[in-house]
Amino acid sequence: MNENMSEQSMASFIHGLPKAELHIHIEGSLEPELMFELAKNNGVDIAYRSAAEVRAAYAFTDLQSFLDLYYDGARVLVEQDDFYALAFAYARTASAQNVRHAEVFFDPQTHTDRGVSFETVITGLRRAFEDAHRQFGMTSKLIPCFLRHLSAESALETLEQALPFKDWIVAVGLDSSELGHPPTKFAHVFEEARRHGFETVAHAGEEGPPDYIAQALDLLHVSRIDHGVRCLEDPDLVERLRRERIPLTVCPLSNVKLGVFPTLGDHNLVELLDAGLCVSLNSDDPAYFGGYIEDNFLAAQEALGLSRSQLRLLSRNAFEASFLDEDAKQVLIAELDRYSE
Ligand code: HPA
Ligand code: ZN
Repeated sequence: MNENMSEQSMASFIHGLPKAELHIHIEGSLEPELMFELAKNNGVDIAYRSAAEVRAAYAFTDLQSFLDLYYDGARVLVEQDDFYALAFAYARTASAQNVRHAEVFFDPQTHTDRGVSFETVITGLRRAFEDAHRQFGMTSKLIPCFLRHLSAESALETLEQALPFKDWIVAVGLDSSELGHPPTKFAHVFEEARRHGFETVAHAGEEGPPDYIAQALDLLHVSRIDHGVRCLEDPDLVERLRRERIPLTVCPLSNVKLGVFPTLGDHNLVELLDAGLCVSLNSDDPAYFGGYIEDNFLAAQEALGLSRSQLRLLSRNAFEASFLDEDAKQVLIAELDRYSE
């Protein structure tokens, strides 16, 4: 490390910054090379001939155009070891970027609808994150998400499948196509999840209107909002998010790739921070959106001219917004406080 930290380059400051990642879909960390390897092992046909061809196909116009390819790519994941390989690869990369703690989404229905059991998926993921903890010291928690384009009944079945693995799961989430699938559709299943002791989170205000954020708070009683960037359209909602200190897990590269903002320079991250909101930076689907958490920090810093204290605040917010217990949070925040110029 540089002796004179004030001369430390921005890139190395960002690299070394202790981080937590709270918005990462493990299926979205499937790199084309692993996709090919698993397709071959499992005899799954894929529409591409090379990793370069896969990457070239990742030109999205909106959330749905991404989701179509993302669900298609997930078909190569069949065996428990495939989920292990996927999760271990993510943990290795995240740890190398100084992620100390990750809260990781997975989409059970994407797999159970193809005959891959909930148990196969979660056992592979769990083993990988246990090994990653031993090898890299990174802690993690798992968050199965309900696919909001499917029915509430299907979500309820998924919740039932999750119950035997309750001890491995911190929260349930809600993802997939937002428009036309408001949180209200899942009020009952989230109530059931909370009755079983799970925390709750939901994607809201990515493509959907600010009212979906309010619904997620009022009807799903979420502790965090994933994305939430459209909150700025409703000043009363912003004031509520600030007052109640509801975290937003923001994903800048994702937002640009899916057309939520035309360019990173147009992103409202600084306005969200200036409004006093508990914003963190995350990668969402790193294999599809051009980078992992460090790439998001670097790109956002460059496009928006973020200062070191803003970058530090983003990391602090992530630790605060995590589902770690208070002692574990304080250990990480103390590490962050020691990391300085
Ligand atoms: N939004 C909704 N669903 C998703 C996303 C997202 O950004 N990524 C993976 N599933
Ligand atoms: Zn997401």
